[in-house]
Amino acid sequence: MTVALPDRVRIHPAHLAGTVHVTGDKSLSHRCLLIAALVDGRVDVRGLAPSADVAATAEGLRRLGVQVVLRPSSDGRLEGTLVGSIATAGESDGPGPVAIDCGNSGTTMRLLAGLAAGAGRSVVLDGDESLRRRPVDRILAPLRAMGAVARARDERLPPLEIDAGRLRAIDWESDVASAQVKSAVLLAALAAGVEARIRSPHASRDHTERMLRYAGVEVRIDVDGAEGAEVVHIGPGGSERLDRMVGATLSASRDPSAAAFWHVAAACGGGRISTPEICLNPGRTGALDVLRAMGADAEVSAESDVTGEPVGDVSVGPAGLVGVRIDGALVVRCLDELPVLAVAGALSRDGLEVGDAAELRVKESDRISVLAHVLGAIGIVVEERPDGFRIAGGQRPRSGSVDAHGDHRIAMTAAVAATLGTGPVDIAGFAAVGTSYPSFLDDLA
Ligand code: S3P
Repeated sequence: MTVALPDRVRIHPAHLAGTVHVTGDKSLSHRCLLIAALVDGRVDVRGLAPSADVAATAEGLRRLGVQVVLRPSSDGRLEGTLVGSIATAGESDGPGPVAIDCGNSGTTMRLLAGLAAGAGRSVVLDGDESLRRRPVDRILAPLRAMGAVARARDERLPPLEIDAGRLRAIDWESDVASAQVKSAVLLAALAAGVEARIRSPHASRDHTERMLRYAGVEVRIDVDGAEGAEVVHIGPGGSERLDRMVGATLSASRDPSAAAFWHVAAACGGGRISTPEICLNPGRTGALDVLRAMGADAEVSAESDVTGEPVGDVSVGPAGLVGVRIDGALVVRCLDELPVLAVAGALSRDGLEVGDAAELRVKESDRISVLAHVLGAIGIVVEERPDGFRIAGGQRPRSGSVDAHGDHRIAMTAAVAATLGTGPVDIAGFAAVGTSYPSFLDDLA
C-alpha cells in the first residue's frame, strides 16, 4: 500500500505554481487508527496518508489483533474499516509479548506504547536505526507512574518493552511540550478506564483531545495565556463514551506540514500555490504565522470542520520576505516546518533566527546539524546553536549534492531549496519521503 520512491533524485530550479491536494495529515491518520482501535465495534476511517509511518501503526494494531482493512480511495489517500477493540483483541494472546516494528515512526512507537499499556497488553516496540536513536524515556516515566512494568535500552532508547498489567490514574508533569507524550498518557488512561491529568510547559497540537471530544469523551484543556503551561484532563469513564462511535467515521484532513513545503516555495518563488482542505489546528498553523510575519501573502478560505478539526483552503503567493525570530511557544507550533522555513529565511532580506528548539535534535535526524550540513552543501551558511540556528538573509541556494540522512523533512526541504536555487541539486536518501508524503514528487511535477 506504500509507494516506493527513488532514493536518489535530481531537482532543477523551477517556477512553481498551481493547486496541490497534499496527502492526508500524518498526526491525524495515526489518531484515526488508534482511537478507532479503542472502540469495541466497527469504525470507518477516511483521508489517511498512504505513507510508511501510517502503515506501521495499522500493522501494529493488526499484530495486536484488531482487524484493520485499508484501501486506496479515489482522492489518492486511504480509507477503510477497523473492527475489534485493542482491549478485547488481546484475549487470545499467547505467552510472550507481541513484537511491533514501528519503522521510522516516533508517533507509532509512543502512542501505541500508551494504548497497549493501558489495554494491559505485553508488547515490544522497536524501529529502524533512526527511531532507535530517539528517546522513549519521556513515555517510560509516565507509564511507570501509572503502574506499568516497562523497560527501555539504557532506560532511554528503543526497543521499548511493556509487560501486561493494570494501570492506575495519573497526574503528570511533562518537561517537554510534546503532543506524543500527552497523547500516549491520554490513550493509556482511556484504554485502562482511569483518570489522567497532564501538564506541559506549552500547548502542543491537540488532535487527540479534539478527536476524543468528537467521539464523545469529555476532555478539559486549560492554557495559561499564549506562552503558558497547558493542562489536559480526562475523567475515568471516557472509554464507555467511545462505544457511541460504533458505526461512525473518523476522517483525517490534509497535512499542513506537507503543505508548508509548497507555501514556502510560493512565498519565495514566482507563482501562487493553493492547497485545499488543509487541517488548520492552531497547534499546526505556526509556519503560516511565521510566513505572514515575514511578509508572505497568505490567504485562508472555505473554512469548515472535519472530525472536530478546523479545515480550510490555504493559498500563498510571492512577496518580498523580511527576517524573523522564532522561539518560545511558537516553536512548538512549527517544529516540523522549521527545516523548510530555514529556506525562506535564507531567501529573505534579513534572515531567520530560531531558539528554544533543542527538540529538533531528537527528530528523525538531528535536524539542527543535518540542516546546517545539507543547506551548507548548496551554499547556504547556517550558524548552528545548541537549541536552534541563525541564517543570514540574501542567500540563494546553488547547485550541489546532499544527503537527507534518512529524514523525510530534510529531503523535501532540499527539494524546495533546489527549485528556488540557481542550479540542479542531487539528493541522496530521498526515499525517506515515503514515511509521510509519498506523492511529493508527483505534486512537485
Ligand atoms: C506529533 C507530534 C510532534 C511532531 C511529530 C508528530 C504527533 O512530536 O514533531 O511529527 O503526531 O503527535 P512531539 O510531540 O514529540 O513534539
